[in-house]
Amino acid sequence: MSARHASVLLQEVLHYFEDCSIRYFVDGTLGAGGHSEAILKAHPEIELLIGVDQDPVARAIAEERLAPWGSKVRIVTGNFVDLAKHLSALGIQYVDGILLDIGVSSMQFDMPEKGFSFMRDGPLDMRMDPTKELTAAYIVNHWSEHDLGRIFRDYGEEKRWRAAMYAIANARKVAPITTTFELAAALKEALKPHPYKREIHPLTLVFQALRIAVNAELESLESIIPVAIEKLNTGGRLSVISFHSLEDRIVKNAIRFAASDKMDTSGLGGGLFLDKEPIVNILTKKPITPTTEEIEVNPRSRSAKLRVIEKR
Ligand SMILES: C[S@@+](CC[C@H](N)C(=O)[O-])C[C@H]1O[C@@H](n2cnc3c(N)ncnc32)[C@H](O)[C@@H]1O
Repeated sequence: MSARHASVLLQEVLHYFEDCSIRYFVDGTLGAGGHSEAILKAHPEIELLIGVDQDPVARAIAEERLAPWGSKVRIVTGNFVDLAKHLSALGIQYVDGILLDIGVSSMQFDMPEKGFSFMRDGPLDMRMDPTKELTAAYIVNHWSEHDLGRIFRDYGEEKRWRAAMYAIANARKVAPITTTFELAAALKEALKPHPYKREIHPLTLVFQALRIAVNAELESLESIIPVAIEKLNTGGRLSVISFHSLEDRIVKNAIRFAASDKMDTSGLGGGLFLDKEPIVNILTKKPITPTTEEIEVNPRSRSAKLRVIEKR
């Protein structure tokens, strides 16, 4: 496994499970199985590790990697949002540890046929789960200008979201946009690099927005956190690694709510703070970020943030 496919914040994740005795562990984003392998090595007491992934390529790689653990590992096809269903199918009610390492893997990113990267020509697909219908090509060619603008603004935080939206609307009138390079060409004028500022590649945010929309990434993250907390035994821990500010905001707000002894009802029209039971302790007051050494070896880890909570 090359450094580019290295598991992010691996030592830090292990550290937060160090003093736990784990019977059942869920890796909700199995990927190439790097985190799972390290957890299995560090915790020989594990009876079953359940690894969930929606991508068949990731599952096949993890299956081979984790084969030495035999029946201690169960690889599950599906989405982590269905965690409760996955566990009940195995007859398990509560678990002692859950890890979510959110987003696309480097492996997926590097496969041109997945269409995640503007650096490689491939079909505009971007589905982590190939059984789902919605593709990036469908969004780009069929969604309204309004909806395109909304995702570029809200999921990409792209300042030039209007220009990107119009560029696509004009290009698709001429011919459907079906590949990553065709999309890049359609956006070339609208998203020119800034002449002086050193910035991320100008296509990064639009591609990010499309990926998030295709895979309903933010909705999944928002819905899994309360379910994951519910499925933990007392003393059990949930670790979440996120890769951009939109994801981290969702994680931060969800765990703050779970840890709080107050509930703000203003959004519900109540306008009151009601008492409630805190159900978790936050173990990372500030998110844990990679060391400079890790970033040097694996530059894709640079935006990672780890937050950990413990069920009360
Ligand atoms: C960053 S990678 C995980 C890498 C893994 N921790 C490792 O050490 O090799 C994220 C993986 O999670 C999967 N994934 C992302 N969102 C998912 C979801 N909602 N349900 C199931 N799998 C998901 C992706 O298909 C990808 O393989």
